[in-house]
Amino acid sequence: MASTTSFLAATQARRSMYALAKESPISNKRIIEIVEHAIKHAPSPFNVRSTRCVVLLGAEHDKLWEHAYEITEKTTPQAIGILGPKIKGFGAAYGTCMFFDDSTAVNDLTPRFAALSGQYPEWFEHSNGMHQYIVWTALEAEGLGCNLQHYQPSITPFVTNEWKIPETWSLKCQLVFGKPTAGPGDEKPKRPMEDCLKVYGN
Ligand SMILES: Cc1cc2nc3c(=O)[nH]c(=O)nc-3n(C[C@H](O)[C@H](O)[C@H](O)COP(=O)(O)O)c2cc1C
Repeated sequence: MASTTSFLAATQARRSMYALAKESPISNKRIIEIVEHAIKHAPSPFNVRSTRCVVLLGAEHDKLWEHAYEITEKTTPQAIGILGPKIKGFGAAYGTCMFFDDSTAVNDLTPRFAALSGQYPEWFEHSNGMHQYIVWTALEAEGLGCNLQHYQPSITPFVTNEWKIPETWSLKCQLVFGKPTAGPGDEKPKRPMEDCLKVYGN
């Protein structure tokens, strides 16, 4: 499928999928290759390449979501009724790719670019999002289902300690993946194109 699915078809097929099993239609090696591909080929401001990824599989993935459940129950007990089943669902999936941004990457830029990059901190977020999107779209093109989660900052101390994450890496999101056991549901409503796109000079 991957080799025959065009880029635009893959972007259309990508959805948020929540019914995920602890199985994968592709090997761990292939999952890791896809994350490596994003790290190698995603664009970044000034070519700073500050995005970092940590892939959790098997018991490591389970540990993350068990902790997320415990910390959510402890810090926001009023929300566990709604969030608890969702978190259990993430734990029931196959793996998680965590995305970070490494603040020390700017040290490798020339002084001029380092100064410029300081003025545009959001550009780092843009690049991180591009990495997330490549991995999400590519995993789904190869038969996995994914959903994007944001359980930082409550899980950050655990993540930092458990997987020896450098203090300079800032956690941005968790992309959960697994074999889909149900479809993504109906297509989400789209805004009218005329609200979103203007073209001049055509
Ligand atoms: C930057 C960003 C943050 C998101 N955060 C979450 C999230 O925290 N939890 C979640 O379940 N989905 C999250 N989503 C998924 C969106 O809700 C979803 O992409 C959107 O509703 C469109 O549905 P689709 O992904 O099926 O096309 C996020 C998406 C983006 C781009």
